[in-house]
Amino acid sequence: MRMVNGAEMDQVMNHKEPSSFPSAGKSQVQVTHPVSGTRPVSGTRPVTGTRILGIETSCDETAASVIEDGRLILSNCVASQVELHARFGGVFPEVASRQHIRTILPIIEEALQQAHLSLGEIGAVAVTRGPGLPGSLVVGMNTAKGIALGSGLPLLGINHLEAHIYSAWLAAHPPQLTAAGDMQVNERQPLPPEPRFPLLVLIVSGGHSELVLMKGHLDYERLGATLDDAAGEAFDKVARLIGLGYPGGPAIQEASAGGDPRAFKFPRAWLEGSWDFSFSGLKTAVLREVRDLQRVHDTLPAADLAASFQAAVVEVLVGKAFKAASAFGAAEILVAGGVSANMALRGALHAQADFPVHIPPIALCTDNAAMVASAGYYRFSAGQRDGLDMDVLPNWPLSEV
Ligand code: KG4
Ligand code: ZN
Repeated sequence: MRMVNGAEMDQVMNHKEPSSFPSAGKSQVQVTHPVSGTRPVSGTRPVTGTRILGIETSCDETAASVIEDGRLILSNCVASQVELHARFGGVFPEVASRQHIRTILPIIEEALQQAHLSLGEIGAVAVTRGPGLPGSLVVGMNTAKGIALGSGLPLLGINHLEAHIYSAWLAAHPPQLTAAGDMQVNERQPLPPEPRFPLLVLIVSGGHSELVLMKGHLDYERLGATLDDAAGEAFDKVARLIGLGYPGGPAIQEASAGGDPRAFKFPRAWLEGSWDFSFSGLKTAVLREVRDLQRVHDTLPAADLAASFQAAVVEVLVGKAFKAASAFGAAEILVAGGVSANMALRGALHAQADFPVHIPPIALCTDNAAMVASAGYYRFSAGQRDGLDMDVLPNWPLSEV
């Protein structure tokens, strides 16, 4: 994730016209329902399992979702703040938390309504506890505590990275309403196969790039992580360097479509002998190339730069994930987090035949609350219950959950 720096923040905070500060009226709240659609309801069964209400506010998405038995999406609502932050070229923490406050209750109401459930039919409330922006996390946490206190529901604090992992357990087809208004699961659309352990997990998001060995549910061994920029952060920063929009990942992907991935020979930091990553050298190489190009050209070959950068990131991520999977005897590979939405990365992962690969549907790669509810279900089943004295953990590593 690229965060707005101090100087940029001062510039906005000291701006004299109040109207220039992002107003976050209702028109700015764009709720999307990433996983929905209509399907026939023949051969169905009623929805009866344990339902978890998930709440996610760790960064710049305000999200709520109801999941049944960890895998079935009954509702999944995301209010993205991306337009609000785009003008700053990164996430503006102060703006993010204010917007979460405005959006959190409507989005939870919407998630319950879409699932056709009241709080009385929910089994527990799961909320992202960290890692993330402190001011943003607090909004979700306090809301979840309020719900737990008011309704008597059990409360669960969820690690955001663990939630990303569990997005691969979610099924992308929602249940349907019958003519009588009952929620039904379509038996003809069975849930996709569950990832099998031991799993080699690659988490690539705006804030993290981690290689993890998952030996069973909720059981993680951290093998390596980025030493500097996260993969998504590199996408965001490089997009900015070559004059593409925010967020950088989708912008680089789009620009790459018309570019040559071999146009520029950018470095690959293999860091032999370790399972760590490093993307800052690659970022600096792009910066140098951009400066050299700007000395002689009026416009940058953005497509070639984007494609060459993307190819360098994808090659290292895929190469290290497969090497680690072989080294640790993994049965399968799971890739999750915002960068796993990248089509070049998905293509490269699926192109090989060495390991079955699980990647969440694109709509579930970036931040959402369905994944929080899914992880919440497995935690709830394992007996986790958190108290109302639970606080957010903005720097909570997966190895300490
Ligand atoms: O997981 P996420 O939504 O938030 C964090 O937990 O950080 O990840 C956001 C990151 C951003 O850096 C964004 O640029 C990147 O994921 N991203 C992508 C794509 N879509 C989102 N990166 C590459 N290709 C994409 N299609
Ligand atoms: Zn995330």
